[in-house]
Amino acid sequence: MITRKDLIENLKAPLGELEADRELFAAAAAQRDRMVGSRVHVRGLIELSNRCRKNCLYCGIRSGNPAVERYELTDEQVLAAAERAWRAGYGSVVLQAGERTDGAFVDRVERLVKRIKERSNGGMGITLSLGEQARATYRRWFEAGAHRYLLRIEASSPELYARIHPADHSYRERMDCLRVLRDEGYQVGTGVMIGLPFQRVEDLVDDLLFFRELDIDMCGMGPYIEAPGTPLATSPEAFSRAERLQLSLRMIALLRLLMPDINIAATTALHALHPQGRELGIAAGANVMMPNLTPAAVREGYRLYDNKPLADTDLRGFEVVFDRAWGDAPHFAARRKASEPLAEDGSEK
Ligand code: 5AD
Ligand code: SF4
Repeated sequence: MITRKDLIENLKAPLGELEADRELFAAAAAQRDRMVGSRVHVRGLIELSNRCRKNCLYCGIRSGNPAVERYELTDEQVLAAAERAWRAGYGSVVLQAGERTDGAFVDRVERLVKRIKERSNGGMGITLSLGEQARATYRRWFEAGAHRYLLRIEASSPELYARIHPADHSYRERMDCLRVLRDEGYQVGTGVMIGLPFQRVEDLVDDLLFFRELDIDMCGMGPYIEAPGTPLATSPEAFSRAERLQLSLRMIALLRLLMPDINIAATTALHALHPQGRELGIAAGANVMMPNLTPAAVREGYRLYDNKPLADTDLRGFEVVFDRAWGDAPHFAARRKASEPLAEDGSEK
């Protein structure tokens, strides 16, 4: 059993050489191989639009950034990207966008999910990453065919959350959304940014314990990277970029040891800090990558942070699953089974 003390010790070890963490990473990778297999699952990422009603202090496409040219893919562009993915052997796509809750947007997502499902004969797994929504919206999208949802808590400490968001963004509402998503039947993923201004190593430890407490199925977390022109970009940095990379890899490894059977993504932000960032994430215990399938013409517009890579990483060296598998985390099936009611004699059904 990994304790809080173990986590603190591991995360607080001196930063500097990635090489020093080799044992930790190898233990996590071995745990991954045992529990979810050694193969890397891919999800094709499609960034529908960079319009967002939120104004997070760290994000390059926040509503208060007038320098961003806003775009919206057409339905045809989205469907074509999904179809290309299907033909290439992807079993799963992620539809991501800035947050919008208006009726037209909700309808549109529902329509897109249905069409992607239809055109793949139900075969394509669909993950949504579309922010905070009403329960009825989550339900409609689930009924349309989406089955996984990513909603990062960003920082599990309410105090830190408040420092990196404007006053009208609510930690409690975000938590409620995470509960509702689970309740509606989604496989739920969350995550945090690592190396935020004001963040302490203890906060990161609590983030890991928070994931376990929430019993999540998936996690996507990566280094915080200053986005030019955002309010947070001028705050003093808590960790250098090299330290953020190293902490991120340690977080992945520790989470793998803490929650062996969940899906953990090697995120794009890792790649932004290191040309081999995502491969390092896999080597530290992650098992999911999300190659970007957004049409190149608009990709520039989805700049959450500085130096966001526009081209995709090189997946050589890993066995990548292109067999149209959904690649669900075994954790989801296990927790569903565990929550089945007990038979009257107290035995499991
Ligand atoms: N650095 C790193 N990650 C960021 N995100 C947004 N802005 C930044 C940034 N400056 C992440 C958030 C969000 C996800 C889509 O992108 O965690 O949930
Ligand atoms: Fe919008 Fe997400 Fe960026 Fe916040 S982090 S401003 S919700 S796109």
